[in-house]
Amino acid sequence: MLERLICILIGYVFGLFQTSYIIGKIHKTDIREHGSGNAGTTNALRTFGKKAGAMTLLGDCLKCVFAIVAVRLIFKEKSGDILPLLSIYAAAGCVLGHNFPVTLGFRGGKGIAASVGFLIAFDWRLFVLCAIVFLVLFLGTHYVSLCSLSCYLVALIAMIVRGEMGGYGMDRSHTTEMYIVMGFLTVLAFWRHRANIARLANGTENKVFLGKTKKG
Ligand code: G3P
Repeated sequence: MLERLICILIGYVFGLFQTSYIIGKIHKTDIREHGSGNAGTTNALRTFGKKAGAMTLLGDCLKCVFAIVAVRLIFKEKSGDILPLLSIYAAAGCVLGHNFPVTLGFRGGKGIAASVGFLIAFDWRLFVLCAIVFLVLFLGTHYVSLCSLSCYLVALIAMIVRGEMGGYGMDRSHTTEMYIVMGFLTVLAFWRHRANIARLANGTENKVFLGKTKKG
């Protein structure tokens, strides 16, 4: 139990690094006062342009990769069986730190770029699958929120399918625990996107067109 809490805490500390907020401060503004009010990639793209969007995606993605690498180094003596599980606890901590940063009055982002980092560090197959789903949906709809939430569901289902096929080499109780943490992250993502979901439902969600951003 203690090691899981340590992983969440390590992840949370990495999650406090808010790339879009820092970029906003360089522009002498608070990103949370612009666009959707979200401290994340899409809003950085919308508010400051493509370069800022790309940097936010990279920074927020890498912080989760680093959190997982740190946890794997710290607990490298543990049996390989539990490392994937500890990785997902680090990712959960990172998403919590990103979404609810104590340093920014608990007003952060929605955890999507950090979750991309999680997929890259955790299972590249899930990342490739979600990247394809995202791309196809984005080209068809231009709704980033819809793409993000769809990818979360796809990642959850694909993780369960792969886990049930023995893909993570963990025992039953660890595999089940992993699904529960991933389920929690999926519910959290939907909760953080509740305003986007309402806008999608009434047809007022903002579309993103990469050729038409403010700058870049
Ligand atoms: O990554 C967050 C994205 O899914 C939606 O962002 O700014 O349109 O609420 P935003």
